[in-house]
Amino acid sequence: MKNKAVYPGSFDPVTLGHQEIIRRVASIFDEVVVLVADSLKKSYFFSREEREALLKQTCRDLKNVKVTSFAGLTTQFATDNDIGVIIRSLRGSNDWDLESTMAQANKKLAPDIETLFIMTQPELAHISSSFVKEIAVNRGSLSHFVSAEVEKAITDRLKRGTP
Ligand code: COA
Repeated sequence: MKNKAVYPGSFDPVTLGHQEIIRRVASIFDEVVVLVADSLKKSYFFSREEREALLKQTCRDLKNVKVTSFAGLTTQFATDNDIGVIIRSLRGSNDWDLESTMAQANKKLAPDIETLFIMTQPELAHISSSFVKEIAVNRGSLSHFVSAEVEKAITDRLKRGTP
């Protein structure tokens, strides 16, 4: 299928910013796969399975969105699943350096796969998963950053002890 995209990310955890991107991408493509992937540069608060489960809850009303996870390269996942487009979101110029080099590296790995960038809405551009965790650990309100169900999952995770 041509009109199919993959939106990879750490999603540790999924935020209102990610949700808004997923909703917009789902209105453009016939099918969107939200892919929980790992970056070697990061250590994670939620396991890959927990991140995937939270995303599945978050996306349950979007009929053309599938959530899964993968331990290998995003380009390999896209090739294996006949997906020609990788979606990445930009919050501002700070994201550009990393995203442009990642897109170029992915292009070398899989020349037939395009990376498309989508701008985050300005009112959500301050959100990052790291800020969410920092606010949560310091017992601040997360209502402007994540959904109620994600906030509950973070609170429960903190009660079990930080990983
Ligand atoms: N709303 C909210 N936050 C957003 C956002 C948006 N619209 N867009 C980006 N972000 C934030 C995230 O919250 C995250 O914040 P954090 O750094 O504080 O955690 C940050 O931007 C980047 O997150 P994400 O988009 O999830 O990217 P990542 O750098 O964590 O993950 C992977 C990158 C997982 C997609 C990449 O490493 C990958 O594809 N891994 C698989 C292996 C692979 O193919 N590697 C080769 C890459 S060349």
